[in-house]
Amino acid sequence: MAKDKIIYFCQECGHETAQWMGKCPECFSWNSLIEKKISKNNGLKSTDTKPISAESLTEIPISNASRISSGIREIDILMGGGIVPGAITLIGGEPGIGKSTLLLQIAGRMASLNQKVLYISAEESLSQLKMRSIRIGVDSKDLFIVSSGEMEKIIPVIKDLNPSLLIFDSIQAVYTSDLPSSPGSITQVRETTSIIVNHAKNHNIPVIITGHVTKDGSLAGPKTLEHMVDTVLYFEGSRDKEIRIVRSVKNRFGNVNEIGVFIMGEKGLKEVNDPASLFLKEISSSGPGSAVTAALEGNRVIIAEIQALVTEGNYGNISRTIDGVDPSSVLRLKAVIERFAGLQIADKEIFVNVTGGLKIFEPAVDLTVAMAIASSFKNIPLNKDSIFLGEISLLGELKRISQPVKRIQQAKRLGLKTVILPKANQNDCKKMTGIELVFIDSLDTAFNLVFTQ
Ligand code: TYD
Ligand code: MG
Repeated sequence: MAKDKIIYFCQECGHETAQWMGKCPECFSWNSLIEKKISKNNGLKSTDTKPISAESLTEIPISNASRISSGIREIDILMGGGIVPGAITLIGGEPGIGKSTLLLQIAGRMASLNQKVLYISAEESLSQLKMRSIRIGVDSKDLFIVSSGEMEKIIPVIKDLNPSLLIFDSIQAVYTSDLPSSPGSITQVRETTSIIVNHAKNHNIPVIITGHVTKDGSLAGPKTLEHMVDTVLYFEGSRDKEIRIVRSVKNRFGNVNEIGVFIMGEKGLKEVNDPASLFLKEISSSGPGSAVTAALEGNRVIIAEIQALVTEGNYGNISRTIDGVDPSSVLRLKAVIERFAGLQIADKEIFVNVTGGLKIFEPAVDLTVAMAIASSFKNIPLNKDSIFLGEISLLGELKRISQPVKRIQQAKRLGLKTVILPKANQNDCKKMTGIELVFIDSLDTAFNLVFTQ
């Protein structure tokens, strides 16, 4: 009979070795390696003796896997048109941001459509869940709750109930008693996820799992989870504000970078009907340092405000002063502004953020960021009815942006008056009327146009 193989793996980082060591060679933790028996066939017992064969691509039937609506429009959009049976979705976010609330709402909506939903509440007791459900108005006989984190006890319940949707809240609180490490450790998170994935794929049940994210933005420990699941959604926004953005960062069944926008209210999360204008309402003052942009978030254009503050002094780490846009692009813009537009800002401290907790990671907002910085530095406010768009090269030239017409249409719909954008986009915008378009070719021209009037 084949002999079992023994491997050692680190409970901190998941690194595997063939030999026991006192210190993990990957993450340098002491005494973190533990033994694991792997059976000769890798733990995968084949019950099926039929040989497999290759299929011609043309002959493969189109899967008509019907998607199931989550009952929440924004979530259906994020998932690419509804929940795919057998698909695993991971929803990550900081503790307290609203993951459990969202899942209970999805569970409630689906259960009210006579779909059996099983909610594994590994962190909260039945009565805590009941209290939340009363608060958000969820009640259905088809919604079943288990308050346990032990996989060995949970699996028989899943088999027995055979739900149409399975929810694990959270993956850091479920564990298998096969492993000695504590819940939330890399090894537990990986192992329990793989049990869940196998079960979901074998029984064609869609599963949503939640995962807590640490401050540095990675899923606490289980960053490794991302490649094991089909879809990854992250909550953005801050806990103390009411706007919540859920973004798709991976989707095997739809687009990525799509966002869903919600407001956390008294009765849970409410979908925002017109997200494009939501952040426009947030535009606060008419003071210096504020510039408006039309950012592409997945398929949507969102009108948002970028704020900058230029001060004396040195607050250190740039990642602490820049929020909502790419910190390295701000560093680059700072150098370009100094060199090609003559503003002496090299020794200044720069703070940047996006109002409403939105994150914008596209180069088309380079000009918006640069205008906000210049406006703060010069202490001259910008016109709130103007939008600035353009990627800025290292030589201070304005480069083409993608989908200018879509952005301009949204700006026009929301009553903005002027769009300042790259000359390279002029041909794309020939048919646009009813809004003033100003085409420019460099950062220097933009500053001259706006600050010398
Ligand atoms: P929760 O869903 O428990 O967060 P997570 O599962 O991501 O840790 O959200 C908890 C927060 O949301 C808590 O601060 C209370 C707030 N909240 C509301 O404002 N309204 C509501 O209807 C609910 C249920 C929660
Ligand atoms: Mg929770």
